[in-house]
Amino acid sequence: MPDITSKLPAAGTSIFAVMSALANQHKAINLAQGFPNFEPPQQLKDLVAQAIQDGHNQYAPMPGLPALREAIANKIQLSYGVRPDPGAEITVTAGATQGLFCAIQAMVRKGDEVILLEPAYDSYLPAVLLAGGIPVSIPLKSPDFRVDWDEVRSRITSRTSLIITNNPHNPVGKVFRSEDMIALKKIVLDHDLLLLSDEVYEHLVFDGLPHLSVLADPDLYSRSMVTFSFGKTFHATGWKTGYIAAPPALSAEFRKVHQFNMFSVHTPSQVALATFMDDPASWGGLNDFYQDKRDYFARHLEGSPFRILPCEGTYFGLLDYSGISEEDDLTFARKYTERCGVALIPISPFYKSAPRDNRTVRVCFAKTEDVLEKAAAQMRIAVY
Ligand SMILES: Cc1ncc(COP(=O)(O)O)c(C=O)c1O
Repeated sequence: MPDITSKLPAAGTSIFAVMSALANQHKAINLAQGFPNFEPPQQLKDLVAQAIQDGHNQYAPMPGLPALREAIANKIQLSYGVRPDPGAEITVTAGATQGLFCAIQAMVRKGDEVILLEPAYDSYLPAVLLAGGIPVSIPLKSPDFRVDWDEVRSRITSRTSLIITNNPHNPVGKVFRSEDMIALKKIVLDHDLLLLSDEVYEHLVFDGLPHLSVLADPDLYSRSMVTFSFGKTFHATGWKTGYIAAPPALSAEFRKVHQFNMFSVHTPSQVALATFMDDPASWGGLNDFYQDKRDYFARHLEGSPFRILPCEGTYFGLLDYSGISEEDDLTFARKYTERCGVALIPISPFYKSAPRDNRTVRVCFAKTEDVLEKAAAQMRIAVY
């Protein structure tokens, strides 16, 4: 028998697939998996259909369609006041996940230490392990999940090569302030590190807070790769389209991996997105749209035994269930789905080794009001 020793022995079926399957089995309302239950804009759907009819059905150029990269550069300029070179600095990816994976393969060498701030989006860790990197997990600090930058600094060694950040943050909904950006920049520059900044929720920031993108800081950007997702911005997670911005030398290394991992991304979507993004209104208004959903759900959840934790961005919120149960979050989320008819996501899978005292679960509020209302009503009355 050939050696099939697993390269990812700890990886099982993703918790999102597990909880969605459980939700289907028990006909539970699915607030678990992170996707909207509403449609992308009709115009965008029409443009994709049109692109297919018009014959845009063969391979796109490896880094992405030039017209789309131009549109992305324009969007970045309007959002952050800088314009990366669409030729040398922007690459279209198959969702942010593929961008993150290729960026990590391009930047991390065997034995490099990579700082992960946990809980962390679940694709970072396996990508680091497959690159031969050594993950260094640093917990976000309770109760408000802030980054302890002193601790980050204290964990840096001569082998540290990369920090991965996620702002706004899934699953804790936290948004970086200028103090965070200053501390991050000082650490990255002082220790000559690379930065991978996951900013897929750039347009889902609430209560008037700004999104502080790494793109807006030339010193930080000069050693960073920054990932984005059209799936999040245009309610089309299933299209798996996004992009990565990085300075020319880093983009060149990124593309060496990307061309053999993916080569190029779905052409009709790229044609459609290039036209659709001509109008800045196409990505405007998302902050208010999702803030209204956050508040709608919170209002309807009043009187339930869950305690809602503050959510500054993303379409996820954390709920403290310690008023209902002392069980661990995996057990609680599974039983709650089965018994109470609403599927939730435990957050321990977002850790390499999860804190035992965690009593929070994640909900996705990217849902229509009828679904949010029904779920909240169920969560107010359900007996666990
Ligand atoms: C923090 C974070 N990064 C990356 C992704 C992946 O984005 P995409 O669906 O574009 O691959 C997600 C999706 O949930 C996410 O929450």
